[in-house]
Amino acid sequence: MDDRNREQKKQNSIIQGTSEAAHIPEKIPTVVTTVDPRSNEEDLLSALYPFGQMIKKSGVVAFPTETVYGLGASALDPKGIEKIFIAKGRPSDNPLIVHITRTEEVFDLVESVPEKGIQLMKAFWPGPLTMIFKKRKIIPDIVTAGGDTVALRMPDHPVAKALIELSGVPLVAPSANASGKPSPTMARHVWEDLEGKIHGIIDGGSCAVGIESTVIDMTEEPPVLLRPGGITQRMIQAVIGPIERDDQLDEIDRGNSGDEKSELPGKVRSPGMKYTHYAPRAKVLILRGKRKKVIEKVLELEKTYRESGKKVGIITVDENLKEYEKLYGEIRDQACHQACDIKENKGLSPGAEDVSNSPCIRSLGSEKEVEKMAANLFAILRDFDQTEVKIILAEALEDREMGYAIMNRLSKAAGQNILYVDEEDRS
Ligand code: TXA
Ligand code: MG
Repeated sequence: MDDRNREQKKQNSIIQGTSEAAHIPEKIPTVVTTVDPRSNEEDLLSALYPFGQMIKKSGVVAFPTETVYGLGASALDPKGIEKIFIAKGRPSDNPLIVHITRTEEVFDLVESVPEKGIQLMKAFWPGPLTMIFKKRKIIPDIVTAGGDTVALRMPDHPVAKALIELSGVPLVAPSANASGKPSPTMARHVWEDLEGKIHGIIDGGSCAVGIESTVIDMTEEPPVLLRPGGITQRMIQAVIGPIERDDQLDEIDRGNSGDEKSELPGKVRSPGMKYTHYAPRAKVLILRGKRKKVIEKVLELEKTYRESGKKVGIITVDENLKEYEKLYGEIRDQACHQACDIKENKGLSPGAEDVSNSPCIRSLGSEKEVEKMAANLFAILRDFDQTEVKIILAEALEDREMGYAIMNRLSKAAGQNILYVDEEDRS
């Protein structure tokens, strides 16, 4: 405990008339280690040994997986799991995923596995697919929010595997962000949100997939897709035939009822902030419609906001960058806040309009490489928090394959604020 903390605690004790002010959470010294996931298994196991010990002592440790960073505790230890909920500020009615390294473990944890479950394990494990089954008693209620099902996943990342091995138990691991923030795809994102609140962070570099695993409920027949992710609906159906989509998914994708109070323009459909997750500080507005009209609308809105003193962020794709460059000059840099700091993009391109307070423009990547766009999404959303941007205008992507998973996250970040720029596009 540092001096300031100790002093604060003393003051509270005086106010409360107690010797200990138990309600002040003590800052935990967060240990960080960097490892190269390509190291051989022996080296990884020895570098990560202390983190296995932390888990055994009911500690919580953030570690990389192929999807996003997870915040791990023993799946059989309610004391450790409780610390996850506290560190994240996560509502206790939201169940956790249990991570394993061997298929045999499944049968210790769940009552039964339907044939289709076995087929999906063979096809996609280890990998970004989470399956829900009826749980056995061994799984504590805190994992499943009191429910009788449990979500299982076998991650495909050497660091995650080594940590599970060292802990000697399956690990629960929600994404290692503060609740409501974009999921972390780099160790520094975890540090920003959870430093002082968790015992360890293992830095194993960026996460390759970049969005969370696909979640599918195997207790239903046909199985039901609850969260789109790295393993797409088409890939699943190619193995087990038709599956259904949870009703709520399509509600998120379409947006619904209007919100008159919003500062956002026109026919925005927004049910409010109820579903907002992955949210940067700035408001997010998605623009759907034909490419040309979307860009026109982005430019028009950007001007309006700029004139009212609001700096705008734009999320686009490589293919559309040249349209923005015509007006704002060359957009040449990866880190948005740097771009904005370079004299607000001025002088980057001769003949470009000299706009002050010009927008922060970020490309997710090329439409031809949707997987890469997914991997960039959360870091881009987080980077906007380093800027003065007040509103982010995001071009909608095609709702296909990984594009569907990206739009699911973007829609949540937008609290479903969606502007349809041409009526024909509305489904
Ligand atoms: O890729 C991932 O899945 C990452 C990495 C760390 O493995 N983890 C992750 O966990 O995204 P989390 O807690 O952020 O998201 C888990 C999702 C939540 O939407 C939760 O409601 C759902 O899975 N879930 C977990 N158990 C469930 C259950 N028994 N029934 C229905 N949904 C469940
Ligand atoms: Mg999460």
